[in-house]
Amino acid sequence: MGKPTHALSERKGHWLLGSLDAFRNDRLRFLAETAEIAPIVRFRLGPRRCYLVSDPDLVRDVLVTRHRHMARDPLVRRILEKTLGRGLLTSDGEYWKRQRRMIAPALHLQRVRDYADIMVQHAGAAADRWRDGQEVDVEKEMDGLTLSIVTAALSRADAGGHAATIADTLPPLQEIARRQFDRPLQIPDWLPTPERRRQRQLSDRLSRIVLGEIRERRASDADGDDLLSMMVRMTDAETGERMTDEEIRAEVITLYLAGYETTALSLTYTWYELARRPEIEARLHRELDEVLGDRLPGLDDLQRLPYARMVFKESLRLYPPVYFTVRAVAEPIELGGHAIPKGSVLLVSPFAMHRSPALWDDPQRFDPERFANDAEQAWHKFKYFPFGGGPRICIGNQFALAEGPLILATLARRYRLEPVHPNQALVLDPRITLGVKGGMPMRLRRREPAAAATRAQA
Ligand code: HEM
Repeated sequence: MGKPTHALSERKGHWLLGSLDAFRNDRLRFLAETAEIAPIVRFRLGPRRCYLVSDPDLVRDVLVTRHRHMARDPLVRRILEKTLGRGLLTSDGEYWKRQRRMIAPALHLQRVRDYADIMVQHAGAAADRWRDGQEVDVEKEMDGLTLSIVTAALSRADAGGHAATIADTLPPLQEIARRQFDRPLQIPDWLPTPERRRQRQLSDRLSRIVLGEIRERRASDADGDDLLSMMVRMTDAETGERMTDEEIRAEVITLYLAGYETTALSLTYTWYELARRPEIEARLHRELDEVLGDRLPGLDDLQRLPYARMVFKESLRLYPPVYFTVRAVAEPIELGGHAIPKGSVLLVSPFAMHRSPALWDDPQRFDPERFANDAEQAWHKFKYFPFGGGPRICIGNQFALAEGPLILATLARRYRLEPVHPNQALVLDPRITLGVKGGMPMRLRRREPAAAATRAQA
């Protein structure tokens, strides 16, 4: 082993629990404070030996260079498997690789082009439903919208039928998984608790719907271009294998689950920041009025709406929905010149790094200007990484980077969102994703884009 290139410190905690209490009491503070101690900090969560890695080069090692020595964390896998089965989020190794290879083309940028119309159509329908002066929970609104978009895009599920069942089952399943993550002691799976029963019922209902759709596609020999039809037809280029119904079911539910709440949260924080910063909001409105006037946006408009994209990216910086992620060390590795034993858990936190004073000027300030002229292209890849990186980078990142700004543009053309309570404090709620306590109550105020455009030209 060579000389250490990066410092490693230890965060000592309770003799038995380690830092478990500090982590559970205020996870965001724990991550941010620990990240400031050293590039690698060792600590314990109960019996688990953990390392928080907070240097961009070392994060690259964890997510990219040493990817082959890493596995899914067993705890994360065990909880998610109850809802998802064996899919991209819960698998490793050859199986994960094959699934990723098969699914990636369906979420490729070229395909996102087809999905853009669905995004705008659904956002437009939400704006049609909204009323001036109405009070809404923006987090719920955004959840509903992104869930309807991902189900429509990936399986052409219509709003009335299957999509309604998905909307009724997935959020409560997510809520149960969230509680299970937060529990210090895991309850054995065979114990028939009311929570487990409900989880099974919801999960079975959701699976029936998705399996029904898969069988329909098989029976009709469908040549549709939605993800479900594609998965039914796909053969793996390397092995010639096809996916079974169960494999497709697991992947579809994984994509639904991974594909709605994250984007919804980024949008929720975007509305929150816009409402507090009139100058940023006004600039966004000017751009929308000048570029779109009174028409809806399309994918090609994104190039002409740089400010909308900058606002969305800055929201992903300050409030990364996946605020930390973990890897289990499957084989001993060296990191920054230090030996990391097998069985350790490595944590990397976009939240801590996106707010690190060592990496950013005035990191707590919401400032879309940081992203002017796609500045992030020149940054270290792991200074700003809301979608992770390496082979397990978010498979939906192109989807989300189109969806966020398109929804923002479609809705902000017609509505401003105001806080219901003038000094409304934002209390972050770090769950599996970075949520907000008590939702985000806001009041809708109608705008007249055409009139605004005329004013801008005058
Ligand atoms: C703003 C929105 C989103 C954010 C911030 C986000 C973030 C992330 C991150 C950080 C990871 C990597 C986690 C890790 O390395 O452990 C990830 C993985 C994943 N994301 Fe996203 N995501 C978003 C939207 C989406 C969408 C729209 C979809 C699907 C349509 C999606 C599907 C997935 C899947 C399936 C994985 C697992 C990939 C694998 O392990 O191979 N995500 N996401």
